[in-house]
Amino acid sequence: MLELRGVSTRYGPITMLRSVSLSLAEGRIACLLGPNGAGKTTLIRTILGIVKPVEGEILFEGRRIDRLRTHEIVALGIGVVPEGRRVFPRMTVEENLRMGAFVEWAPADLAARRDRVFSLFPRLAERRRQKAATMSGGEQAMLAVGRALMGRPKLLLLDEPSLGLAPVLVEQLFTMAQAINRSGTTVFLVEQNARKTLEIAHHGFLLQKGEIAGSGSAAELAASPIVRHAYLRA
Ligand SMILES: Nc1ncnc2c1ncn2[C@@H]1O[C@H](COP(=O)(O)OP(=O)(O)OP(=O)(O)O)[C@@H](O)[C@H]1O
Ligand SMILES: [Mg+2]
Repeated sequence: MLELRGVSTRYGPITMLRSVSLSLAEGRIACLLGPNGAGKTTLIRTILGIVKPVEGEILFEGRRIDRLRTHEIVALGIGVVPEGRRVFPRMTVEENLRMGAFVEWAPADLAARRDRVFSLFPRLAERRRQKAATMSGGEQAMLAVGRALMGRPKLLLLDEPSLGLAPVLVEQLFTMAQAINRSGTTVFLVEQNARKTLEIAHHGFLLQKGEIAGSGSAAELAASPIVRHAYLRA
């Protein structure tokens, strides 16, 4: 569904992603593991066209997207929960969801999409007029996912959604990611929580210092010495 072929990106003189190739299978959960500073967020930003690759190609459903603008890429059916969630703190739940809307939607369509998010997250419906800043971390995570789902993406990118959440909430978030995937959305989950991630992912990639250092099925990754040594010691 999404394919990167030899993608390199630079921040000024520094090469951050070095000839990254990977492909995400449609209808599956893929994960991207890697330590702080490996370039995971840069990879997400590159897929979204926020950072432009200096070489390589990115294809979504067989079509090149690396020359498109971010809003065009999103409109093709790619949703994102950005690193740090980035909900709009002074806006209410409803207003935040509206920010996930595209300009051309009719009000009735917008309402239908919002109600679908509310049925998935009843907690958000209860708090629809509450300001995002006053919501708990777990609720803000739900809101960020709900906002991304407003566009009914075919592919959902999640950049460390579990960061800072208590274990029980991480559990809920991952269960939710599985439910979203079962409803037909391909999921790309960026995480440092390798153990939990490999429980729900079908396949994945390991990124180190801007390079793909391993890939395979979740079972293969869990068994690989490099993942075991660096991420599964606990
Ligand atoms: N806009 C930027 N300009 C210059 N360097 C940047 C920029 N954004 C990120 N970097 C650098 O690129 C490297 C990779 O950053 P990135 O955010 O992609 O890592 P990450 O794998 O997402 O890490 P983390 O797990 O901490 O979120 C880091 O060394 C970072 O300092
Ligand atoms: Mg990051």
